[in-house]
Amino acid sequence: MIRSVIKGTGSALPARKVTNEELAKTVDTSDEWIVERTGIRSRYIAGEGETTSTLATMAAQRAMDAAGIAPEDVDLIVLATATPDQTFPATATTVQAALGCRGAAFDVAAVCSGFIYSLGVADSMMRSGFAKCALVIGAETMSRILNWDDRTTCVLFGDGAGAVVLQSEDVPEDGPGVLLTKLHSDGRHNGLLHTDGGPSTTGTSGKVQMRGREVFRHAVVNLADVLQEVLKESQFSAENIDWVVPHQANARILEATAKKLGLPMEKVVVTVDQHANTSAASVPLALDLAVRDGRIKPGDLVMLEAMGGGFTWGASLLRM
Ligand code: UT7
Repeated sequence: MIRSVIKGTGSALPARKVTNEELAKTVDTSDEWIVERTGIRSRYIAGEGETTSTLATMAAQRAMDAAGIAPEDVDLIVLATATPDQTFPATATTVQAALGCRGAAFDVAAVCSGFIYSLGVADSMMRSGFAKCALVIGAETMSRILNWDDRTTCVLFGDGAGAVVLQSEDVPEDGPGVLLTKLHSDGRHNGLLHTDGGPSTTGTSGKVQMRGREVFRHAVVNLADVLQEVLKESQFSAENIDWVVPHQANARILEATAKKLGLPMEKVVVTVDQHANTSAASVPLALDLAVRDGRIKPGDLVMLEAMGGGFTWGASLLRM
């Protein structure tokens, strides 16, 4: 059967790491509060010359190097971001030019679920025969749309990028590839996590606003639901899963979701302590880390999941 197989992963972080202690010098917060409520200890913040496209390009190049593919092999780039370099053109086209690739390139806007959405879109396009080799990227510079005077949001986010190379391959039933992706949205809740502006309303990008407690409640329920849905349809059970690579918003959400599924935390890749919430970048960043440090191995059954503004949420089951 034809499947989209992950042939390589890559990631990139800005040069500057900012610890909670450093943040507490300019924001009315403390290391204790941030660690206790979120599990976050540090985040990376983009500096001059570092943008969503530069981080995305670096992550994508590393994924291409790991996969051993050349720029001319790529015929599709799908880039998830809520912080594009410009309102238009799509950041994916800037990355395409920087990498020297051809084919189709576009952005997907699904905020923190953006990478799962992009993986679903790219996988569908590959299964339909539109593309043979895709770069799927999640990249963000959330620091540029934070209100640094709002301690309820600015301590939570960070910048970064992650990418995978997907190649269309004829594989046996128990072979590698994306097995199943489920995507959901519920626009009735889009006021709970949003920016207070945009090109067609204020003519600015706006800054992040979040009703954290409500988002938290929805996140735990929606993530548990979509994970159950994927398990049921794929006919795997939670015990079959080798690794869960979740969106990294809050350590307490990761723990609550794992508990609902009956999965031990030893099977959950956690990076929120180091990277904070990097929105669309968090899942591919965590995936790359766990592939490179040898935790995730060829043949492993891996569940990716995310939830974010919109609300949007989804999960993808794949075999490495
Ligand atoms: O990526 C998309 C998905 N996003 C998420 O999943 C985020 C979901 N939400 C959360 O992770 C949590 O709700 C937060 C981490 C955002 C907040 O944690 P919480 O336990 O829900 O705290 P809270 O908002 O109820 O605030 C508790 C207290 C408040 O003080 P009072 O009113 O009890 O006196 C806040 O003013 O903590 C205060 N507070 C802070 N204190 C120190 C809020 N932010 C801070 C801060 N430092 N940075």
